[in-house]
Amino acid sequence: MEFQQLLLSRQSVRKYLDQPVEAQKLEQLIDAVRLAPSACNAQPWTLILVDEPELKNKVARATCSKAFGLNSFAIQAPVIAVLVLEQPPWTVRMGALIQRREFPLIDIGIAAAQFCLRATDLGLATCMMGWFDEKAVKKLLCIPGQRRIGLIISLGYAPQDYPLRPKSRKERHVMSRFNRY
Ligand SMILES: Cc1cc2nc3c(=O)[nH]c(=O)nc-3n(C[C@H](O)[C@H](O)[C@H](O)COP(=O)(O)O)c2cc1C
Repeated sequence: MEFQQLLLSRQSVRKYLDQPVEAQKLEQLIDAVRLAPSACNAQPWTLILVDEPELKNKVARATCSKAFGLNSFAIQAPVIAVLVLEQPPWTVRMGALIQRREFPLIDIGIAAAQFCLRATDLGLATCMMGWFDEKAVKKLLCIPGQRRIGLIISLGYAPQDYPLRPKSRKERHVMSRFNRY
């Protein structure tokens, strides 16, 4: 897909068909994360693709909030991708301390963006989810105690008639400047 078209086509999809994602496409998505840049090339992530239906449903349920009406769509997605934050090497930790910057979180965001853009390119649909019961998901996926989950992404095929929404974004002059703040 042409890049600008890709940027416009990637959107949060909250409805999925009951259709599995091909293994080859999952491998291409793993590569999209694998190829992402990161501070000191630390690659501080482990990507878990959950596609065993029963386990996937449990993880999907752990992203739902009845109180806020969030993420109930996740149960329809045939795959749930979980980006686990890994401890970066000491160079990055030192840099982060001095700079007071959470490099691994920045890295995870870039990796997630690459995942979602590549998925769109492959005709798939995604939604990043920052709301989830981290303790429950860690238990379900046997993620060691000290690890944190950065982000969860639903993945699958959108229905044919799922609308491509116009982007609701701040105007250029509001969110950007030339030369000075
Ligand atoms: C870090 C992050 C966390 C998000 N968490 C959720 C979430 O828990 N549930 C949800 O439905 N959407 C979630 N979103 C999707 C945003 O609401 C969405 O990206 C934003 O409204 C822009 O819409 P678009 O993705 O369709 O362009 C999240 C997005 C990001 C980047």
